[in-house]
Amino acid sequence: MCGIIGFVGRGQAAPILLDGLERMEYRGYDSAGVAVRSESRGLQVRKTKGRLKNLADMIHGGADLEGCLGIGHTRWATHGEPNDINAHPHVSENGQIALVHNGIIENYLEIKEHLQKLGVTFTSDTDSEVVAQLLEYHYNECHNMLEAVGRVLRRIQGSYALGIICSDYPNALIAARKDSPLILGYGEDGNFIASDVTAIIKHTRDVAYMDDGEIAVLTADSIDVFDDELVPVEKERHQVDWDVTAAEKGGYPHFMFKEILEQPEAIRKTVSPRIRDGRVVLDTFSLTAEQVRDISRIFIIACGSSYHVGMVSKYNWERLLRRPVQVDLASEFRYSDPLVDDRSLVIVISQSGETLDTMAAMREAKRRGARTLAVVNVVGSSIAREADDVLYTWAGPEIAVATTKAYSTQLVLMDLIGLYLADLLGTVEQSEYDAIIQEVQLLPEKLQGWLADVHNVQYFASRYFNHNSIFFIGRNLDYAMGLEGSLKLKEISYIHSEAYASGELKHGTISLIEPGTLVVALGTYAPLFDKFISNVVEVKARGAEVLALTTEGFREKMGKTADAVIAVPETHPILQPSLGVVPLQLFAYYVALQRGCDIDKPRNLAKSVTVE
Ligand code: G6P
Repeated sequence: MCGIIGFVGRGQAAPILLDGLERMEYRGYDSAGVAVRSESRGLQVRKTKGRLKNLADMIHGGADLEGCLGIGHTRWATHGEPNDINAHPHVSENGQIALVHNGIIENYLEIKEHLQKLGVTFTSDTDSEVVAQLLEYHYNECHNMLEAVGRVLRRIQGSYALGIICSDYPNALIAARKDSPLILGYGEDGNFIASDVTAIIKHTRDVAYMDDGEIAVLTADSIDVFDDELVPVEKERHQVDWDVTAAEKGGYPHFMFKEILEQPEAIRKTVSPRIRDGRVVLDTFSLTAEQVRDISRIFIIACGSSYHVGMVSKYNWERLLRRPVQVDLASEFRYSDPLVDDRSLVIVISQSGETLDTMAAMREAKRRGARTLAVVNVVGSSIAREADDVLYTWAGPEIAVATTKAYSTQLVLMDLIGLYLADLLGTVEQSEYDAIIQEVQLLPEKLQGWLADVHNVQYFASRYFNHNSIFFIGRNLDYAMGLEGSLKLKEISYIHSEAYASGELKHGTISLIEPGTLVVALGTYAPLFDKFISNVVEVKARGAEVLALTTEGFREKMGKTADAVIAVPETHPILQPSLGVVPLQLFAYYVALQRGCDIDKPRNLAKSVTVE
C-alpha cells in the first residue's frame, strides 16, 4: 500500500518521479504528490487527491518543478480521508523537511499529543505527518540529519519506508525502512529509492534491498547505508533481470488482459527449469526424505488469491501426500496461538513477498520453531529473504491489482512441490507421477491454444454482466477454483458474488436461488462430475440461469443441463484448475469491461498490502 520513490542525480527529478509513480500506482491511487528541491526555488511541494494523472496535469508532466532531488508518493489511505491535505509529501512546520511514508506509525497519537503540547501545529490527519514534525524537532536539537533520523526511528513504532529531503542538505536524499519494502537503485546519472523495482527499472537494474532498521543517505554519486546504531553497513548488490517491457501495457487495453494472456509463458518459465529427466528438481529446497518424513504437520498460509492457491493445494497435497494439510488465512493464523512446532512445515505463498499479515504469520511460525518455505514472485522481497527456503514463481512483474499470472504460477509451483514431497515420502505411484509430470509440461501449450479464442467468454460476459449477484458452485478442486473466480469478479466488477461447495448449497444458501439468479457451475473435476451434475439440476429446478465451465470431454453432457457452456482442454485432474481458472479470470475481466469499471485499479484495493 502506498508507493514511494526518490531521486537524486543529474537529471530533472519531477518527470522521473512521475514516471516511477505511474508504475507503482497499483500500490495505491487515492492521492499523489511530489516534493522537488532546487537551489533557486527551494522546496516545491505539489500534491492532490485522486489519480496520479491529476498530479501530472497539475505540474504539466513535471515541467513546472525544477530540481535534481525529489521524492514522490502514491497513497492508499489509512489515517485520514483521501484529500489534498492528507496526501504526501508531508512538510514539517518550518517548511524545511519534506517526507513520504509507506506503512503505519502505531504510536503516532501519543507523539502527536506530545508535540502539540510543545506548540507544534499539525495540518493533516495522518500518522505520517507526525514523523516529519518529530524529525524537525530532533533536527533542531542535534543539527545533524542522520542523527535526527536515528532518534526518530527509536521513537516511532510500526512499519515504515521513508523518503526524506531537507533544505539544509540540498544534495542528499535520506531513506529508512522497517517492515515496508524499500529498494536502493544505483544509477549512472543518479541514485534512487523505490517501494518496488518496477518504478526504477527503466533507469537501473543495479539494486540493493534495505533491511529493517537501516538508514540510507543517497547523493548523485553515492549511497551510504547505516544500521540502527548509525554504524555503516555494506550492502549486497543485485542485478534485476525483469524485462522492462513486462511492466508496460504494450498496446493492450489493460494490464490485466495482457497478464491473462501472458499465463502460458509464465507457467512455462516456472515449470521448465524445475523438471529434469522426468523428475521434479527444487534446487533451493533441500529437505531430505528423512526430514520430510519427520514433519508432523503441514500448514499453508497466505492472503487473498494466494490463499485460494492454498485451498487448491490442500486438496492436491492431501491426495498426493496422504497427510493432513491445514490452510490458514495469514491474518487469522498469526493471532490463533497456532499449533506449530519444530516438526511443522509452514508454506507461505505471496506474490509480492511483502504482505504484512503473511510476513507476521511466517515470523510467528518461525518463532515456534517451524521450518518455513516461501513461494514468492518478487525476488528479494521481505518474505523471500526471511523464509528458511524460497521458491520463486517466474511470473515477472504483475501490475494489475487483480492477480492472474501470479496466481497461475503459484498454482503450478505448489503442484510441483506437492509432487516432490510425495515422491520423497513414497506416497505417489510412479505411473501417476509420470502422468502429472507429462501433463504439467503440456499446460502452456494447452492454455495457449485455448486462449486463441476468448470471444465466447466475451459473449457470455455481455449476456450476464448486469446481474447483481452471482454464485460460483463446484466440488473439491472446482470449489477451491470457484473461490478465486468469485473473488476476481468481486474485485473488479463490484458484483456481489459467493463461491460455494455445491454439496453445501442445500444447507442454506440455496434459499437465495430464484428465477434468473446466475449460477456459474464449475464442473471440471472429472472424478466428481456426475455428483456435481445433481447440484446443477437442483439450482436449475429453482429457476437459476446456469453458465457452466467444464472440460471438452464433458461439454455435451453438461450442455444437457446448463444454459451455456464454456469448455477447456482436459489435463490430469490435479492440474485442471490451472486451465479452468483462466475463463473465470476472463469472465470477470469482460464483465468489468461491460460495466465500465476501472479494471487495473479497482476501488478501495491495493496490490501490495503492507498494513494489518
Ligand atoms: C492483495 C491483492 C491480492 C493478493 C493479496 C495477497 O489483496 O489485491 O491480489 O492476492 O493481496 O497478496 P500477496 O502479494 O501476498 O500474494
